[in-house]
Amino acid sequence: MAAARVADPMASRETVGPSAPDGSPLPDRSLPSFERDVRRMFTHIAQGYEWFDHVASLGNDLLWRPRALWDLDRFRRPGPLSRVLDIGCGTGELARLLARHYGATRVVGADFTRAMLENAVGSSAGRPERPRLDFTRATVLKLPFADGAFDVVTNAFVARNLSDLSAAFREVQRVLRPGGVFLTLEITEPASLTVHRLFHAYFDRVVPWLGAAMGSAGPYRYLPLSLRSLPDRAAFLKLLSGSGFPRIVARPQSAGIVTTFLAEAGGPSNPSNESR
Ligand SMILES: C[S@@+](CC[C@H](N)C(=O)[O-])C[C@H]1O[C@@H](n2cnc3c(N)ncnc32)[C@H](O)[C@@H]1O
Repeated sequence: MAAARVADPMASRETVGPSAPDGSPLPDRSLPSFERDVRRMFTHIAQGYEWFDHVASLGNDLLWRPRALWDLDRFRRPGPLSRVLDIGCGTGELARLLARHYGATRVVGADFTRAMLENAVGSSAGRPERPRLDFTRATVLKLPFADGAFDVVTNAFVARNLSDLSAAFREVQRVLRPGGVFLTLEITEPASLTVHRLFHAYFDRVVPWLGAAMGSAGPYRYLPLSLRSLPDRAAFLKLLSGSGFPRIVARPQSAGIVTTFLAEAGGPSNPSNESR
């Protein structure tokens, strides 16, 4: 793909981190280089990312993002949205969907992997929603935006890659206006034992096998490992609540294989203390 231009306020110096036997990156959460290795991993898989995502999820990811926006519309208080931020936007699938779904809204997609952003810009070129879409390079842990700049902040399949969830939640809370909504869409453990067994047989064995066949053994071995590092649904909600979001809810999809977490930011004009 021709190099697409992306606003890049981050300096980067990538060096080689842990790898799988085929040489592909395999990030290890216990190492100080974890963030850099996650970035290296997404650089490695950026080119075929969307295609592999559709294959590995058996096409379900095409339903999960729109359903998450449906959940968002039922959770948020009525009113127009002027600015939405999608963090860890990757190749821009959710950011484009947001821009299409909220016709008059400006959407910013932010990600710390340049190769993913280049795909986001390339895939968005010529689309009717493009004039309302911006992409920028930034880490979720230090967002280059003013306090209260956004009505909604979203992220899809990013949380389990973060080195410090609480720090990320506090940063999201900072850039949201009081009463603004934070949406997280993430892979979660299904509640039913049968679905749990099927899910793990597929996710822990078939997906890494598919990944290895594509020369990406590391990234797709990392995928099931990353899920184990994510707090369960109740602990995730507790973490949100402890990070200054007084109204929170979890909406499971596909028998709980993924969950939409929704959290309303507190603040001076939103003294809500309700939790449901
Ligand atoms: C699994 S992909 C998801 C991409 C997209 N949201 C989607 O729905 O397909 C995770 C993305 O999060 C980005 N990411 C992970 N940690 C990040 C961080 N600390 N700051 C910014 N982006 C991050 C990665 O670069 C990658 O593009």
